[in-house]
Amino acid sequence: MVFAGVRELISEQVLRARVAELGEQITADYQGKDLVLLGVLKGCFLFMADLCRQIQLHLSTDFLGVSSYGEGTASSGVIRITSDLSRSVEGRDVLVVEDIVDTGLTMNYLLENLETRRPASLKVCSLLHKPARQIVATPIDYLGFTIEDVFVIGYGLDYQYRFRNLPYIGVLEETP
Ligand code: IMP
Ligand code: MG
Repeated sequence: MVFAGVRELISEQVLRARVAELGEQITADYQGKDLVLLGVLKGCFLFMADLCRQIQLHLSTDFLGVSSYGEGTASSGVIRITSDLSRSVEGRDVLVVEDIVDTGLTMNYLLENLETRRPASLKVCSLLHKPARQIVATPIDYLGFTIEDVFVIGYGLDYQYRFRNLPYIGVLEETP
């Protein structure tokens, strides 16, 4: 799929290989645990779908809807839960699945919020990390790729509600 004005940063093939590695690692680490994959919507949906199929465990899945951005590409720092978990995570092993940790504000808020629900363990799996823009340091236990300070789209990530369906991670080129 070719989109005009989009430069490919991480190809489908590279994404697939890395997601498989993450799945293997998580499979090894969560043996005998009550794993709940907790996807952060909406950006996680493709990553979550691919990752969960690479984990060879009887896991369960749930989702949290979070909104942190307005229309622009800069973090507003204002986080809003738009849809809550459907089931309690008390005593269960929660792995938060995110598309990207940018400023860290969203993840920091989520971890504080989830901690109050008393999970047996709480860890983070993020496909991408943009350390250049970090405001709050948050742990990332499983990380797909570290990227430069560029605004990325595709594989679940949007720019103004579009581009989530790109099968790869891309960068919007500046239009003159
Ligand atoms: P943070 O709170 O600044 O860490 O941002 C977290 C959320 O902002 C992510 O879950 C994304 O939904 C969104 N976001 C951050 N950087 C990008 C980007 O480069 N492209 C698309 N969405 C982004
Ligand atoms: Mg997100």
